[in-house]
Amino acid sequence: MEKPVIRVALQSDQPAIQQLNTRAFGQEDEARIIRQLEADGDVIIQLVAEMDGQIVGHILFYSLGVRGRLGCAGLGPMSVDPWVQKEGVGKQLVMQGLTMLREAGCSIVFVLGHDWFYPKFGFTLEATEPFQSRYKGPHFFAVRLRGGPPMSGELLFPEAFGA
Ligand SMILES: CC(C)(COP(=O)(O)OP(=O)(O)OC[C@H]1O[C@@H](n2cnc3c(N)ncnc32)[C@H](O)[C@@H]1OP(=O)(O)O)[C@@H](O)C(=O)NCCC(=O)NCCS
Repeated sequence: MEKPVIRVALQSDQPAIQQLNTRAFGQEDEARIIRQLEADGDVIIQLVAEMDGQIVGHILFYSLGVRGRLGCAGLGPMSVDPWVQKEGVGKQLVMQGLTMLREAGCSIVFVLGHDWFYPKFGFTLEATEPFQSRYKGPHFFAVRLRGGPPMSGELLFPEAFGA
């Protein structure tokens, strides 16, 4: 079995990405969110992990507004095929994605997700403190990638996540 290669997702990967997310989450909600984020032009970047010609991992970063200020990025959905989970693919996707965003000038990334996963990559509850969001709570994290705005404000999520 080959090592997974992380690369930018192509439009032609979309059917495989949606099937993967449906398999990994055991429901179709995330595939629907991905379709809507794309249709609304809210996607910043999507990466996939490819192994033996198959898409086995996926991560999406979307544009996250901050009322009256410069925006930033949100992470999700992301998924790894159940049969290759706990082998480091998710870690590679997160690390590669954060590196690309940092190089592109993104200052902070937010995520609503597992407390046993995202803190491993520098995400903290504390980094969310100056921001207002309906998602705030024990599973809402942020990681600062570089200095600069936004430093505070009300987060405005894309419509794909519901009004
Ligand atoms: C969350 C998910 C993407 C993780 O992907 P993965 O490829 O299995 O993760 P990795 O193998 O890179 O693991 C990274 C770290 O998380 C830990 N980890 C992974 N799965 C774990 C689990 N179920 N419980 C506890 N820790 C776990 C690993 O041990 C590893 O820790 P380490 O770096 O200290 O050794 C994957 O489990 C998944 O797709 N789940 C279903 C969909 C989902 O929940 N997506 C995320 C929504 S927020």
